[in-house]
Amino acid sequence: MTRLLLGLTLLLSVAISAHCLHNVVTGGKSPITAQDAEGGSFQNAITEVTRAYNTYSNSMFHHAMLRYEDAKKQVVAGIRYTFVAVFVETPCRKAVRHYGSPLRWCKEKLSPDAKVYRCPVSVVYRPWSSPRQYEVDRSGLESCQQTRRLKRSEPLQHQVLLGGDSHDIGHYGQFAEFKRAHGKVYASRAEEQRRFAIFRDNMKKAYAYQMLDRGDARYGASVFADLTQEEFRSRYLSPRWDLSRRPAEEAAVPTLGDLPTSFDWREKGAVTEVKNQGTCGSCWAFSTTGNIEGQWFINKKKLVDLSEQQLVDCDKVDEGCNGGLPSQAYKEIERMGGLMKESDYPYRGSDQKCQFNQGKVAVYINSSVAISKDEKAMAAWLVQNGPISIGINANAMQFYLSGISHPWKIFCNPSHLDHGVLIVGYGMKGTEPYWIIKNSWGTSWGNKGYYLVYRGDGTCGLNQMCTSAQVK
Ligand SMILES: *[C@@H]1O[C@H](CO)[C@@H](O)[C@H](O)[C@H]1NC(C)=O
Repeated sequence: MTRLLLGLTLLLSVAISAHCLHNVVTGGKSPITAQDAEGGSFQNAITEVTRAYNTYSNSMFHHAMLRYEDAKKQVVAGIRYTFVAVFVETPCRKAVRHYGSPLRWCKEKLSPDAKVYRCPVSVVYRPWSSPRQYEVDRSGLESCQQTRRLKRSEPLQHQVLLGGDSHDIGHYGQFAEFKRAHGKVYASRAEEQRRFAIFRDNMKKAYAYQMLDRGDARYGASVFADLTQEEFRSRYLSPRWDLSRRPAEEAAVPTLGDLPTSFDWREKGAVTEVKNQGTCGSCWAFSTTGNIEGQWFINKKKLVDLSEQQLVDCDKVDEGCNGGLPSQAYKEIERMGGLMKESDYPYRGSDQKCQFNQGKVAVYINSSVAISKDEKAMAAWLVQNGPISIGINANAMQFYLSGISHPWKIFCNPSHLDHGVLIVGYGMKGTEPYWIIKNSWGTSWGNKGYYLVYRGDGTCGLNQMCTSAQVK
């Protein structure tokens, strides 16, 4: 395990330094903003520094952090925070356990002439390096300077002081905002407490994604921010997709000629409204119907909203709410003779008995193909033929809010596909190429239900399982 983590760390630092060669700004130091100061990882770094200082100092008394100065952050293999920690000596003895609310008591009893120390500190936060996510550089803590005595009027920075649990205050406000925005109501006070704890941990993760994203994506309190990763995976994603199960036949690679710089099938009327799979792992069915809706529109000039529930209930190869693959669903649709309309076989979001009605088939397909993994060829295919069903690793999606998502490979393994979605177009934002991806988590998720992802380096494996039905 340790060796694996070390490997990942090295991998990340190599990847980051390679990136830095091209861009001198990336990797530089930037000041801590108010938002960072609210972010869990910076607050935790402060707590860790205080703990380390108390552990390694020879003082008999407990020291509390009065404030920090000149705080900066820098993306290294992780996030490095540097700042000057200003500690004050409290009257509490380190060896004594202070029951109740000890540190608050210590703060109240600060003597007017308590000693004050300034220490240059550096902490590296590596969210993936559990259980030791924070590494405090001790050499800074050994070079602290006593500056002067505390004056009675000295303002105490309340969030920071004494590293208690007061740093939850920022998250609590965020949680209240999140509950309002998404209409969350919890059954009991205990459940609410539990959800808050999960939310707080998730905000730390989202913050790490934010810091380490190479695009301009924003991550934060999305509609899924109160779910653990296990809950999110089991409710919304499919089990790992088997990459070997692609359709045998590969679509001919279209001529790459003059592709438009941007292209969007939504503007041509080939894409239905964003749907919501609910708490059922039926993403594969939505990816499949989205593709066929596009194929039918392009070949038969009519946009028909198609039934996912028919696939959940009647596809005998795939596993309904437990996951499936578009490549298998196409074959099952051929076996059944077609798909019914959404309105004739509406979505329920749970496994039901098959209620397929042959007489109500609205569209058929004739075959299916795999599409090239080359993203230029994918773009050419898309322009000429329609939206593409893809598999993707959904790691970065739980906390995605907006912008172009471009996580590092170690946070989004391209061979771990667990979610089925639909590429409907592509574009450029300045010099950043991106795909436009239709998701099936409703319109309150992401960019009105859409996900923008970096185009050109196989981000999150989005080029690994591209398929389409064919309508003749
Ligand atoms: C495509 O499938 C439909 C429905 O099964 C069939 O009627 C049609 O002839 C097929 N088209 C071709 C070109 O095979």
